[in-house]
Amino acid sequence: MENNFPKLFIPGPTHVSKDILEELCTDQIGHRTPEISDLIGFIVNGIKEILYTKNKIYLVSHAATGLWEMGTKNSVKKGILHCVNGAFSSKWALSSSMCGFNTDIIDYEWGNGIKVDDVDQYLSSGNYDVFAMVHNETSTGVMSNLEEISELLKSKYPDVLWLVDAVSSMAGVKIDVDKLGIDFLLSSTQKAWGLPAGFSICSVSERFLDTSKTIENKGYFLDVEVYDKYINKLQTPTTPSIPHMFGLKKVIEIIKKEGLNNRWNRHIEMAKYTRDWAFNNGQELFPEENYESYTLTCIKNIKGWDINSINEILLKKGFRMDRGYGALRGKVFRIPHMGNIYMEDLKEYLNVFDEVLCQLKY
Ligand SMILES: Cc1ncc(COP(=O)(O)O)c(C=O)c1O
Repeated sequence: MENNFPKLFIPGPTHVSKDILEELCTDQIGHRTPEISDLIGFIVNGIKEILYTKNKIYLVSHAATGLWEMGTKNSVKKGILHCVNGAFSSKWALSSSMCGFNTDIIDYEWGNGIKVDDVDQYLSSGNYDVFAMVHNETSTGVMSNLEEISELLKSKYPDVLWLVDAVSSMAGVKIDVDKLGIDFLLSSTQKAWGLPAGFSICSVSERFLDTSKTIENKGYFLDVEVYDKYINKLQTPTTPSIPHMFGLKKVIEIIKKEGLNNRWNRHIEMAKYTRDWAFNNGQELFPEENYESYTLTCIKNIKGWDINSINEILLKKGFRMDRGYGALRGKVFRIPHMGNIYMEDLKEYLNVFDEVLCQLKY
């Protein structure tokens, strides 16, 4: 069925190409059959390669927000430390405090990245058994450095469990899970995976699972022990979104064909291209230097462009732009370059954007 919806240039849900969308229309299969186990086996092995991990992979038929609570409900006993540097990290910390955990935050100004010395200082109190952070803050376009945090945790806090939200970086940025030692890594599918929203993925370390076994009253729906029992049979605890699974299989095939290093480099190249485009137009970037995301670019609108007018003209030309998240609306705008957006798509979009700027006499 043809429609006239604009092509998405927002940082989630991102553009899904036709060949992937078609896979979601595959005939349904039963969720307790050999067919589903073949499908899940392929997906889980593919994700393990993409994340460089031997950890368990769980496939979850709901939004990533539910995985924030899967992460915390299966791990926190003493207390959890959150880094907050944007809208999503803030919501995750809120979720932890609403779950009743002893929750502290390191509060950064939006646009800033997480500093390893701050994490060290807070963890040295001994008040926390879990540390949670967002790798790529989609609201601000800030990507923090996982290697630095990994070194800190390994050298000084080996007993602290490490939870990472990689919703807008997984499958677009290299995350070497086993080398880094991430205990719980989560993402949903509507960003760099380039699939529709409503399906999520997590990788879970052995010691995270062991910790979960010692926790009482964690409920049923988000209990990783339940997920583990079913994934060992290559199944899921509840009836999954099977269309997403067919789509995910297709995306994994595309990623394998592209090659992992090519994929990571493509995202870096597109980020550089977008940053240069912003600078050439006299704009600045919103994130502090050295913390700019590879999957989206958040541009500080210092030129005072009328973002609403640009948006209206872009819509007429067939593109849906981003106008900034929450409190940043109008002050920044974000350009996504991940998943099914390739260099030619990005160039096409930025060329049209340039035409609009000309039209508005900027
Ligand atoms: C960094 C980050 N974390 C979490 C979420 C929430 O994801 P979901 O809508 O799948 O719950 C988002 C959504 O944009 C996000 O960007």
